[in-house]
Amino acid sequence: MDHEDRDPLVGGLTPGITGGARLDAHAADAWLEACPRHVLGGSLPAGLFERFVSLDPDAETRTWLHDAVAHPHGRWRARLHAMLRRVASDHDVDGWLGTHPMQVLGPSSFRALLGVGASPHGTLLDVGAGCGDVTASLGACFESVVATETSRPMVRRLQARGFEAYPVDLASCPLPGPSRVFDAVSLLNVLDRCERPRSLLHRSLAYLRPGGVVLVACPLPSRPHFDVGGHTVDPDEPLDVRGETFEAAAASLVRDVLAPAGLEVVRWTRTPYLARGGPECPLHVLDDAVVVARRSEGGRVDTSTPP
Ligand SMILES: C[S@@+](CC[C@H](N)C(=O)[O-])C[C@H]1O[C@@H](n2cnc3c(N)ncnc32)[C@H](O)[C@@H]1O
Repeated sequence: MDHEDRDPLVGGLTPGITGGARLDAHAADAWLEACPRHVLGGSLPAGLFERFVSLDPDAETRTWLHDAVAHPHGRWRARLHAMLRRVASDHDVDGWLGTHPMQVLGPSSFRALLGVGASPHGTLLDVGAGCGDVTASLGACFESVVATETSRPMVRRLQARGFEAYPVDLASCPLPGPSRVFDAVSLLNVLDRCERPRSLLHRSLAYLRPGGVVLVACPLPSRPHFDVGGHTVDPDEPLDVRGETFEAAAASLVRDVLAPAGLEVVRWTRTPYLARGGPECPLHVLDDAVVVARRSEGGRVDTSTPP
């Protein structure tokens, strides 16, 4: 099924910042403060609510936001993006033009979510890294990072930034080179934007060392689709993240996707997933669940019905 009119950057519960006068840093901070960062405990399984952490906006995200609202993409770049978008995927066009840089959390918030200290430690495999903005923030917690991407223009951007990056879909192909495992595997905002999310999650887990952690970010409520040329289509393997509230969809993500993959939640949060926009809409925003999980060993998080 085609979804030609669907903008992958618009959706979720949080209002974007649209047109008109540019926001100053003060107004941008106020907007960021107002983004949802809490969940309703009564709407979640008790075991999942216990593992929720609310994180205040971090300094890195404030700086990112000030720059984004002060310098939205110009009219001509936005027009060129719209023209190219008719024939190429959103990710390829962003890779060519450098449009829509993204922000999830700054390194300090990723450290808090991972429960690690300030010194980088261990190895990360970032699956579906995009142009590397979020990879760089999360990667600051690790000593080394390997990235995968299915968009070749994005791979070139990742390599230009110094990341070891491969144009590979782990759902169907192995990581090139000798076999290796990582201390952490991240799938940030990719499971709802890929062709075969279940296979991608399962195959990516093969690269996780025993005792390692998995990070999964997913905009909720879920609107999965992936780009084929100039249009978007439904994934081959539906993710089945159901629920139209953030809490219902988060519970479904854990119960219907992570638990069947043998993962239990360690900690999770809710944060705005930001992308710089153009003159009509200087900032796009989605409502993101970011989950740190481990392979379950016996004791499982209660993902059944709310109490
Ligand atoms: C919405 S972007 C997310 C980028 C980044 N991880 C972030 O959180 O901002 C999704 C990215 O996943 C890539 N992608 C889609 N399917 C993939 C797959 N099977 N393997 C690797 N990357 C994939 C797309 O090309 C796109 O750049």
